[in-house]
Amino acid sequence: MNKKYYITTPIYYSSGNFHLGHCYTTVVCDALARFKRLEGFDVFYLTGTDEHGQKVEQKAKEANKTPKEFVDALYEQIVSLWSLLGISYDKFIRTTDDYHVEAVQKIFKKLYEKGDLYKAQYEGLYCTPCESFWTESQLVNGKCPDCGREVKMMQEESYFFKLSKYQDKLMELYEKNPDFISPKSRMNEMVNNFIKPGLKDLCVSRTSFKWGIPVTFDDSHVIYVWIDALSNYITALGYPNVQDSLFTKYWPADIHMVGKEIVRFHSIIWPAILMALDLPLPKQVYGHGWLLFGGDKMSKSKGNVTDPFVLCNKFGVDSVRYFLLREVPFGSDGLYTNRAFLSRLNSDLANDLGNLVSRTTAMIEQNFAGVLPTPYDSIDMDHEIIGMINNLFISVKNKMDELHVPEALSDIWTLVQRANKYIDETKPWALAKNPDNRERLATVLYNLSEAIRVIAVMLSPFIPNSSKIILESFGLKEPKLFEENTTFGKLKGGETVKRTEGPIFPRINIEKELQNMEGEEESTEKKPEITKKHSVEKKDIINIQDFAKVELKTGKILACEKLPNSSKLLKSTVEIGGETRTILSGIAKWYSPEMMVGRNVVVVTNLASASIGGVMSEGMLLCAEDTQGNVVLLTPEKAMESGSIIS
Ligand code: ME8
Ligand code: MG
Repeated sequence: MNKKYYITTPIYYSSGNFHLGHCYTTVVCDALARFKRLEGFDVFYLTGTDEHGQKVEQKAKEANKTPKEFVDALYEQIVSLWSLLGISYDKFIRTTDDYHVEAVQKIFKKLYEKGDLYKAQYEGLYCTPCESFWTESQLVNGKCPDCGREVKMMQEESYFFKLSKYQDKLMELYEKNPDFISPKSRMNEMVNNFIKPGLKDLCVSRTSFKWGIPVTFDDSHVIYVWIDALSNYITALGYPNVQDSLFTKYWPADIHMVGKEIVRFHSIIWPAILMALDLPLPKQVYGHGWLLFGGDKMSKSKGNVTDPFVLCNKFGVDSVRYFLLREVPFGSDGLYTNRAFLSRLNSDLANDLGNLVSRTTAMIEQNFAGVLPTPYDSIDMDHEIIGMINNLFISVKNKMDELHVPEALSDIWTLVQRANKYIDETKPWALAKNPDNRERLATVLYNLSEAIRVIAVMLSPFIPNSSKIILESFGLKEPKLFEENTTFGKLKGGETVKRTEGPIFPRINIEKELQNMEGEEESTEKKPEITKKHSVEKKDIINIQDFAKVELKTGKILACEKLPNSSKLLKSTVEIGGETRTILSGIAKWYSPEMMVGRNVVVVTNLASASIGGVMSEGMLLCAEDTQGNVVLLTPEKAMESGSIIS
């Protein structure tokens, strides 16, 4: 029997238009689900919509619709988005589905009968957009700490869940399973911000609005939308009917993938409810970062929406998938800019991958009439690339096991780039000129075809459409399993090789396209000039007011990578007191990305953003340069909380 893998996304709020940020969780889970299927796992991938609650009731009213009409329309919208993006979920749950409603009512009753619910008066603060309760002390500047919006005073009779009772058990769970909440930073956040200060009992029913699942034994109450929503992970499998084959087969979940703002619900409230129901606990809650747009989480209400339908229709689904999977350092935040998006497409997809495939297939067409030649003996210079082909699966698998998705792609690109270099080294166009070199030419083109085949197989979870097109041009079908498809030598000479009709990834004229996109979307993206290095000798005297204009803060490097196509630039993800920014620095000569991660740094935080090499840099890391041109990073003398003001 194959091992099972149960993976879930959050169920999406049905309260507004979906933007590119929303696609992130689903696309990441899709790549993981597809990857596991190809590894031979029996995968169950669940997603759905979160359709109840006060927020939906309000939005429906504003739209002059009944709540059901309103959520039906949004359901259609989201299902068509997932279908466009090729999301391979096994089940889609709607919280208005009858079986879910009934199951949640039974869950609520079970909790009540167990003595874990009691009735009391609730008086406290509520953030409707987040559907979450807060205490005065948790607010930030008087606003919701998660979304920064107004909270309202709420006063009503409610049922309470004895969350406080599970405090010690939760702590024990985290201690015994240090990966239960990942990445580690999120575990610390939960323990320090919520568990250690002491858990309070949770208000789990409401009486002041109607759009929710009624409590069967007290029908003036509807069940709190988060209890309703979280339960989807088991009701979708047939719970409370534990005989249901889906439930016995797939529960507990292997991973709940969620955005970092809802880790709290999944890692504290959800396990406590499962404990109360005497059910096994999920193996892991993974809190991914946000896709940011101009430094803010992408959200409709903040008006910085990028429409995934528009992007997919214009640039292709795989381009959007690739960008999301490649650009957001997993676990931390990533920045969307039109320029970064277009640059990725050009450099990685059109140039690296597209060129490799078109050059190879064209040479087979020209020199072997479109028939794959049988290879002759390899020579020394072939062994490196053959070794890389044979090792690709295991290195990518290791990265995926750690959920290091961008790194997995980057491993695949190492082979893509190596194969392009192999073309430059072996010079097949020169070999073709001399009939004496025909055997060598055959071997080189065969080796390249094998590299492309294994690359396409490994890419199939990430960019399935393009992978399929590439494999088809070698007469191959989509792979069912990685096994036996990822070692060198599977292609047989004599097969027909066809060039794809038109380029798989068309090259984009970035400047022209940016003008189009910015015209259409009124992008907030700024394109200031790159600051020129000023000369060191002559500097004007400035007064203290001038100096005070410079905002300096301490930051911490969360992630770092080399900027593709640049030998100088490092791209760091820097945390500055709860905010995350992307900052480019010309220090690749002195620091490797590994050396950067975890460092405390000094950041100029009010420098105008600048686009360098296609990436927006939002600030500057301070460095010192000596007369020999050696560069060192400036660091606070002692580690300080990030975001500390420097003056
Ligand atoms: O939270 N970048 O639903 P939701 C990355 N209904 N991910 C983003 C994002 C961005 N800019 N914006 C949204 C809910 N997401 C609840 C869940 S589960 C029992 C109930 C992600 O529609 C977000 O982090 O607000 C979350 O993972 C998903 O979209 C759905 O968010
Ligand atoms: Mg949300």
